[in-house]
Amino acid sequence: MLSLIYAATLNGIDASIVELETYISSGMPVFSIVGLPDIAVKESRDRVVAAIKNSMFDFPTKKITVNLAPADIKKEGGIFDLPIALCILAAIGKIKKENLKKFCAVGELSLEGKIRRVKGVLPISLALQKNNIKDFIVPFENRQEASIAGTANIFPFKTLGEVVQFINSETFIDSYKYDDTESFNNPITNEYDFSDVKGQKSAIRAAEIAASGGHNLLMSGPPGSGKTMIAKRIPSILPPMTFEESVETTKIWSVVGGGFCGGLIKTRMFRNPHHTSSAIALAGGGPYPKPGEVSLAHNGVLFLDEFAEFKRDTLEILRQPLEDKKITVSRAKNSFTFPASFMLVAAMNPCPCGNLGHREKYCVCTPLQINKYRSKISGPLMDRIDIHVEVLALKLSELTDLGSVSESSANIKERVGRARQIQNDRFLKTKIYSNAQMQSKEIKKYCVLNKSAYEILKMSMEKLKFSARSYDKILKVSRTIADLDGVQSISANHVAEAVKYRFSDRNPI
Ligand SMILES: Nc1ncnc2c1ncn2[C@@H]1O[C@H](COP(=O)(O)OP(=O)(O)O)[C@@H](O)[C@H]1O
Ligand SMILES: [Mg+2]
Ligand SMILES: [Zn+2]
Repeated sequence: MLSLIYAATLNGIDASIVELETYISSGMPVFSIVGLPDIAVKESRDRVVAAIKNSMFDFPTKKITVNLAPADIKKEGGIFDLPIALCILAAIGKIKKENLKKFCAVGELSLEGKIRRVKGVLPISLALQKNNIKDFIVPFENRQEASIAGTANIFPFKTLGEVVQFINSETFIDSYKYDDTESFNNPITNEYDFSDVKGQKSAIRAAEIAASGGHNLLMSGPPGSGKTMIAKRIPSILPPMTFEESVETTKIWSVVGGGFCGGLIKTRMFRNPHHTSSAIALAGGGPYPKPGEVSLAHNGVLFLDEFAEFKRDTLEILRQPLEDKKITVSRAKNSFTFPASFMLVAAMNPCPCGNLGHREKYCVCTPLQINKYRSKISGPLMDRIDIHVEVLALKLSELTDLGSVSESSANIKERVGRARQIQNDRFLKTKIYSNAQMQSKEIKKYCVLNKSAYEILKMSMEKLKFSARSYDKILKVSRTIADLDGVQSISANHVAEAVKYRFSDRNPI
């Protein structure tokens, strides 16, 4: 007596289909699961037995063999409880076998037969589409992510008993259709607005330019000047995510599980890992590799506060994602690649005491201490940050000025959107999509300076002793500033502003 159903397993943020078969024969009552299942799958035996009994079915006292194929993929967790239970019930004739075999089912069972939500339902839904499997039985709580993308018919259920009735056609339900308006529990909503920030015009302007050209941003300034406040508001001025970006971001959260349970994520993420975070927390990893902070920030902002306090080897993790927009996590046997395309926003004090450049307080650090502090961030990492801006302490009068009104995020976002559109057109049919990603070839082509702009750049290079590396960055940022102005040619004022954002290439901040 053999019965079949599809199940699924995760590799990184993708899923693959597993074929599950159950064979029941007479003999000693043994219930075994084969196909290299891990401890978690073995535990599922106990849950399956209890759930079947508590759903008012007899558990067969026969020899039961459940086989998961292919055998060589690592399978995690309670995700197989539901398909195993269904397959056993089919093998003993409680479910019509011929009805069962077209379904894929996922879900963890409680001892009383309720179906609990599982991780990775969105990637599984996409894998079903690829494998041409049409009907997907999911835990009720996972119904929204199951139905965001892909073409499968989604059938959500709360208990094992309901699923049995449905497969036996004793009840009829329509497949679930994604409802964007249904409330769901997304990990963030963007409640921050730039209109809350007083003063700090030049830092906000730098954030606008960074958001426009996809540049990474470093803010340096004394504690309490508003660096964290500004960073938190950057997602509110980034352009809306495309559907594809939303699906990618949601896939990552679907695999991580945690608090996420719901529909399409449309807001850009803001991740703010603490400076004591480990390299694994940032990069991702673990026995079943999970995305780290760099991937949770995918399509959004990765904010590293107290940048100089991060351990050096933790920061080095950032180099691959900053270059390739993805991160590879290697395990003993295999490796996974997670998407990790984020805007890096970093903040640091200007010196160990934090008062350098303060209007009213004195810095007590020696030049040597200041240099040592700054050199904690490696050259190659600094190299990937195009815009450095000083955030000075607010004057008391600025903070208490009730009359001053700052610009709203919506206004800034509109300008950013226009600048991005210019770049979309410029880089159409190429592999890059923002000014920050330009390499020498594109810089030569798109960053042509007029005569006065060139003079300014030459003079700055000589006078401020900028390195050759700064040169390209100034050109790229000038291009973005000209795009914000909506003009083709880069002129002196664009270059002069871009030069300001290389202040830390000069002597100590
Ligand atoms: N420019 C500002 N406008 C309004 N409030 C500010 C500003 N700068 C600082 N604050 C207030 O001070 C608090 C600390 O600011 P924060 O952004 O954490 O500073 P930093 O990150 O530079 O140390 C904020 O929560 C806010 O209440
Ligand atoms: Mg802060
Ligand atoms: Zn100091």
